[in-house]
Amino acid sequence: MRTLTVELGDRSYPIWVGAGALSQVADRGLIPDNAVIVTDSRVAAQVLDRFLAVTSLHEPRLFTFPTGEQHKTLDTVADLLTCLLEFRLSRDDHLIALGGGVVGDVTGFAAACYMRGINFVQIPTTLLAQVDSSVGGKTGVNHPLGKNMIGAFHQPIAVACDFDLLDTLSEREYLSGIAEIIKYGLIRDVDFFVWLEANMGALRERDRGALEFAVARSCEIKAAIVAEDERESGVRAHLNLGHTFAHALETAGDYFRWLHGEAVAIGMVLAAELSAANGDLDSATVQRISSLIDAAGLPCLPPDDLDPDTLWTLMSLDKKVQAGKRRFITLERIGRARVMEVTSKRMITNLFETARDRAPAHT
Ligand code: GLY
Repeated sequence: MRTLTVELGDRSYPIWVGAGALSQVADRGLIPDNAVIVTDSRVAAQVLDRFLAVTSLHEPRLFTFPTGEQHKTLDTVADLLTCLLEFRLSRDDHLIALGGGVVGDVTGFAAACYMRGINFVQIPTTLLAQVDSSVGGKTGVNHPLGKNMIGAFHQPIAVACDFDLLDTLSEREYLSGIAEIIKYGLIRDVDFFVWLEANMGALRERDRGALEFAVARSCEIKAAIVAEDERESGVRAHLNLGHTFAHALETAGDYFRWLHGEAVAIGMVLAAELSAANGDLDSATVQRISSLIDAAGLPCLPPDDLDPDTLWTLMSLDKKVQAGKRRFITLERIGRARVMEVTSKRMITNLFETARDRAPAHT
């Protein structure tokens, strides 16, 4: 097991990665009897028993809500807050987010609001949450007018990425997490990208050694970026590579058609195409990026039935829009990202055609 730290002064916290991470949290008294465990219906059915066995909790205080991005709403947060009041949770008690990104975001936001802020621990049970959403303190919910539009920065006090909790994860959910892992290589670490090219087979097979290296390296990169720019006034925006496209795709698909990582995978290919259109990446590099995403079993292209004009309109809701300019994260090269402002709709809608023309090579 590896131990990493998100360095944020007196709000610094550990990330434990690997076998034994959950017992580490329990042994340190971070899951006391009076904590409220927040989870969703899938995790309650498939993972909760294992969690309770490791933590030796006998009568857990539980709040469970239905699985799915469509439940990442203010209504769910309101129900959770009511439950906390009914449990008479005090300011010294804390919440445990046991689940994927939706559970983590809802729990963290409720923790930020309840009595103006209480502590919470992240126990991510999806690969995507282990490498991204559980680290860094972004919490919140979706609104019908846009994804993640309501929220708060509120850091957890610890994160445990225990691979035993991933055993019941479907293939599709697992691969979705690999999209965010590829993102770290693209934005910060060309050696990690090369490692992923060589080890994608092992990672897809859930080989524990490959998984530990990939999750730890991803969390290490994320921790460094968060420590540098907690509130996203600069470099943290690089973590959104592919996300402006992805959020529009997710909204167009009613948060149902694509898993987040699948939308990010398509978004990263479009971001690579945008980097090429801007003269930063050559065609062979765009191809190399698409090939790795394809090798990860992830989609590389938006389907033909999606109208680029509609996606452009949806992108106007993105939090990164400033003074009408859509802001995209692009690549100067593999391992180095930057922010690009785009005003020309044509520049973006053209990318869909360019990506499709390249498509036969991805498949
Ligand atoms: N998932 C992007 C961030 O945490 O900033």
